[in-house]
Amino acid sequence: MLVVRELISAEQIRHGVAQLAADINHYYRQRPLTLLGVMTGSLVLVADVIRQLEIPVRVGVIQARSYRGGATTPGELAVRDGYLPDVQGRHVLVMDDIYDTGRTLAGLYEYLRPLKPASLRSAVLLRKQGRQQVPLEPDYVVFDIPDVFVVGYGLDYQDQYRHLAYVAALEPQDFQQFQE
Ligand code: IMP
Ligand code: MG
Repeated sequence: MLVVRELISAEQIRHGVAQLAADINHYYRQRPLTLLGVMTGSLVLVADVIRQLEIPVRVGVIQARSYRGGATTPGELAVRDGYLPDVQGRHVLVMDDIYDTGRTLAGLYEYLRPLKPASLRSAVLLRKQGRQQVPLEPDYVVFDIPDVFVVGYGLDYQDQYRHLAYVAALEPQDFQQFQE
């Protein structure tokens, strides 16, 4: 097991997520919400947020996987929508674990817009500083973090660490150690 450095504590996450849920409750009020969790990293966030919502809400999931191109060519985004509820005419909020380059969110917007939702907004737990490659900004950001690789609270490294109750930073020596 790696030694991981706690970056955001479970207590800080609890406060931040409560504030996010309060903001969503306030913004949508009695408008029924369709909340789409981006699999798999948003799983823990979605579970925590929906239990604090006081508005009518439907929950669905969507998967987006980016196939990285070469160093200079952006990767294609493959969207899987097998569990997508009807979004036409609905107020849709896309929820993801982290906003890094922004390509995932931008790709999902491109995919969802033609399906004609009544509104389309987005929320993320984390936003990495100085990494954005698209003009789109999420409507809700719980924490801004430096440009480090993070795990926990849904976020993974090689499908490990999603279960941590806090967010931790992995450092270069951790990756090496992991591969040995
Ligand atoms: P984007 O398309 O570059 O914004 O990337 C977003 C996706 O990349 C997220 O949904 C995560 O799956 C993954 N990702 C980006 N940074 C990290 C990280 O630090 N830890 C774990 N996953 C990450
Ligand atoms: Mg993800």
